[in-house]
Amino acid sequence: MVFIFPTLLSMKLQPLLLLLVMYFCAFAASSEIASEANALLKWKSSLENQSHASLSSWSGNNPCNWFGIACDEFCSVSNINLTNVGLRGTLQSLNFSLLPNIFTLNMSHNSLNGTIPPQIGSLSNLNTLDLSINNLFGSIPNTIGNLSKLLFLNLSDNDLSGTIPFTIGNLSKLSVLSISFNELTGPIPASIGNLVNLDDIRLHENKLSGSIPFTIGNLSKLSVLSISFNELTGSIPSTIGNLSKVRTLRFIGNELGGKIPIELSMLTALESLQLAGNNFIGHLPQNICIGGTLKNFAAENNNFIGPIPVSLKNCSSLIRVRLQRNQLTGDITDAFGVLPNLDYIELNMSLSQNSINAETSNFEEIASMQKLQILKLGSNKLSGLIPKQLGNLLNLLNMSLSQNNFQGNIPSELGKLKFLTSLDLGENSLRGAIPSMFGELKSLETLNLSHNNLSGNLSSFDDMTSLTSIDISYNQFEGPLPNILAFHNAKIEALRNNKGLCGNVTGLEPCSTSSGKSHNHMRKKIIIVILPLTLGILILALFAFGVSYHLCQTSTKKEDQATNIQTPNIFAIWNFDGKMVFENIIEATEYLDNKHLIGVGGQGCVYKAVLPAGQVVAVKKLHSVPNGAMLNLKAFTCEIQALT
Ligand SMILES: *[C@@H]1O[C@H](CO)[C@@H](O)[C@H](O)[C@H]1NC(C)=O
Ligand SMILES: *[C@@H]1O[C@H](CO)[C@@H](O)[C@H](O)[C@H]1NC(C)=O
Ligand SMILES: *[C@@H]1O[C@H](CO)[C@@H](O)[C@H](O)[C@H]1NC(C)=O
Ligand SMILES: *[C@@H]1O[C@H](CO)[C@@H](O)[C@H](O)[C@H]1NC(C)=O
Ligand SMILES: *[C@@H]1O[C@H](CO)[C@@H](O)[C@H](O)[C@H]1NC(C)=O
Ligand SMILES: *[C@@H]1O[C@H](CO)[C@@H](O)[C@H](O)[C@H]1NC(C)=O
Ligand SMILES: *[C@@H]1O[C@H](CO)[C@@H](O)[C@H](O)[C@H]1NC(C)=O
Ligand SMILES: *[C@@H]1O[C@H](CO)[C@@H](O)[C@H](O)[C@H]1NC(C)=O
Ligand SMILES: *[C@@H]1O[C@H](CO)[C@@H](O)[C@H](O)[C@H]1NC(C)=O
Ligand SMILES: *[C@@H]1O[C@H](CO)[C@@H](O)[C@H](O)[C@H]1NC(C)=O
Ligand SMILES: *[C@@H]1O[C@H](CO)[C@@H](O)[C@H](O)[C@H]1NC(C)=O
Ligand SMILES: *[C@@H]1O[C@H](CO)[C@@H](O)[C@H](O)[C@H]1NC(C)=O
Repeated sequence: MVFIFPTLLSMKLQPLLLLLVMYFCAFAASSEIASEANALLKWKSSLENQSHASLSSWSGNNPCNWFGIACDEFCSVSNINLTNVGLRGTLQSLNFSLLPNIFTLNMSHNSLNGTIPPQIGSLSNLNTLDLSINNLFGSIPNTIGNLSKLLFLNLSDNDLSGTIPFTIGNLSKLSVLSISFNELTGPIPASIGNLVNLDDIRLHENKLSGSIPFTIGNLSKLSVLSISFNELTGSIPSTIGNLSKVRTLRFIGNELGGKIPIELSMLTALESLQLAGNNFIGHLPQNICIGGTLKNFAAENNNFIGPIPVSLKNCSSLIRVRLQRNQLTGDITDAFGVLPNLDYIELNMSLSQNSINAETSNFEEIASMQKLQILKLGSNKLSGLIPKQLGNLLNLLNMSLSQNNFQGNIPSELGKLKFLTSLDLGENSLRGAIPSMFGELKSLETLNLSHNNLSGNLSSFDDMTSLTSIDISYNQFEGPLPNILAFHNAKIEALRNNKGLCGNVTGLEPCSTSSGKSHNHMRKKIIIVILPLTLGILILALFAFGVSYHLCQTSTKKEDQATNIQTPNIFAIWNFDGKMVFENIIEATEYLDNKHLIGVGGQGCVYKAVLPAGQVVAVKKLHSVPNGAMLNLKAFTCEIQALT
């Protein structure tokens, strides 16, 4: 049982009064209390059975003892708190006029359906109404305007439709208005300008249309205005400049247009300005960081033209900027030159599809933004070498330089980006080999190098075990696909139009028969090859029959070694998943360590591997040979025969 006391009662007196009121209410049983109890019980009986479990304490004629109910000092119900208790049913049977003293009504997070009854307007003392996250539908009754003491109204996450009643303008004390995530249509009523105590308006994710009422400028206490994802048209009224306390303005995903009013730069408390996904034209707003508080600026997907405002250059509070898909021009470093502020947590510089260029020497300044996590500069006109200073952005998670005109080699310094999970260098004019330091990119999951002029083999990928998605199409790569997950998953689309790749992917030639292809560049490299099935059986057969044999050792170990191994059930191994067998082999031989070496043949070393299931197999690691003969089957078979 909870009692709400007027605040003038001192803390000292409250426990005493609590006892008195408990005693009093238990016996009071006035007609008023009884009618409140009856109103609640009648409503309970209208609810679906599942709701009854949570309301099991609801019986008798003293509601002050019931679950979710609190009374005032006159034993009148003042607080209904039934959040997240699985209520199913409607509010139609709740006779609000019998509950005149309710101060707080919170039934959020239930499954109430039906409409909001107009009788709710009789709750003349209501301070807080929270019906968010239910299945209420129909329109918001005009009588909501009767709730003249309301401070907090939350009807978000329902299926409410129709227009916002103009009577909302009578809620002159309202501080919080949230009706987001509904199906509301029609305009935002101009009467909203009367709600001069509003601190927080959230009308996002509805179907509101018409223009933003200019009376919005009356809301001098407003700190949050969120009207994203509606169908609003027209331009932002210049009265916006009167919202001197506003911190957050969210206009995303409407059909707003026109130029941004210059009055916007009077908002000295602004922290987040979100204009994305509209039809705004003209220049980006100037001086939006005038108060030095701007953290988040999103203006992507509009028709903004001209340069990035120089005023952003010293906006050291900035955390995220998103400007992609506009028609911006100019030099990126004019705007973002001096932003290495340690307060940054993230700076998403999405400038994609603009025509931003840069003096790449000026990238040094960007490279000093040590907290940068996301750097997206795709679809611009950036050219020259990829600045090696980008390798200093050690916290970078996601970098895209795609669809620019970067030239030259990929700087090996990028290999220092230990946390990088996504790298997109596609559609540039990069040349040369993948730097071997790329093997250090141990967090990298997604890599796009497509549509460049890169060449050489893919051996730098061998250690990139976290890589799951790759696109290397339209380059000059050659040689076998690395044995890592990303290439096991790869489709031909991600590999096509290269010079000479081979591997087990439909559309590529398998490496073992691709002897005609050139692998000259790998002459000195050692390649690990999973033995084709027949050869595997052949080699394994040696062991299966328990033959003793002699093999020459590597040049460093001259003594011969005799091996006599019994292997039952050996052929069953090859029914296993090939990748698993491969991994087991690599593990069993400790990455083909010399201590597991049992012999050396013409084309490579032979190792003994004891697999987890106890089977013993021989594994041959093949040297690549000049002129690209990856595997000369005939010679190999002869060698096996010689071994026996
Ligand atoms: C709901 O409760 C009533 C009365 O206890 C009972 O007759 C009815 O079968 C119940 N309905 C369901 C769906 O459990
Ligand atoms: C409302 O009820 C919920 C769940 O029973 C409880 O966690 C919460 O503290 C209550 N709030 C008030 C203001 O009584
Ligand atoms: C609610 O209670 C009032 C007062 O007893 C009564 O006049 C009215 O008809 C009731 N409304 C409903 C919908 O039962
Ligand atoms: C209503 O209850 C929910 C869940 O307990 C809570 O999160 C919410 O803040 C409450 N609403 C108000 C206005 O206190
Ligand atoms: C409310 O939902 C229940 C199913 O949970 C349904 O039987 C009932 O007809 C709905 N009521 C209204 C007014 O839509
Ligand atoms: C709303 O208030 C008006 C006058 O202030 C009153 O006549 C009317 O009955 C009220 N409506 C409800 C539903 O209480
Ligand atoms: C709203 O307030 C105006 C006066 O300011 C009054 O005429 C009107 O009846 C009120 N509407 C409601 C629904 O309370
Ligand atoms: C309104 O309710 C929803 C759902 O409970 C909640 O997420 C949201 O924060 C609330 N709005 C305000 C302004 O408190
Ligand atoms: C609201 O602002 C408009 C002009 O923007 C003004 O005409 C009107 O009187 C203001 N209303 C209030 C209640 O301040
Ligand atoms: C809005 O700001 C302008 C100055 O930009 C001022 O003249 C006007 O009085 C303000 N209006 C309100 C309602 O505060
Ligand atoms: C940025 O520089 C301009 C001109 O020097 C100055 O007026 C403004 O206050 C500065 N802004 C911040 C956030 O430091
Ligand atoms: C080639 O790939 C297919 C499908 O990924 C697989 O079933 C098959 O065993 C592979 N063959 C070799 C020789 O690895």
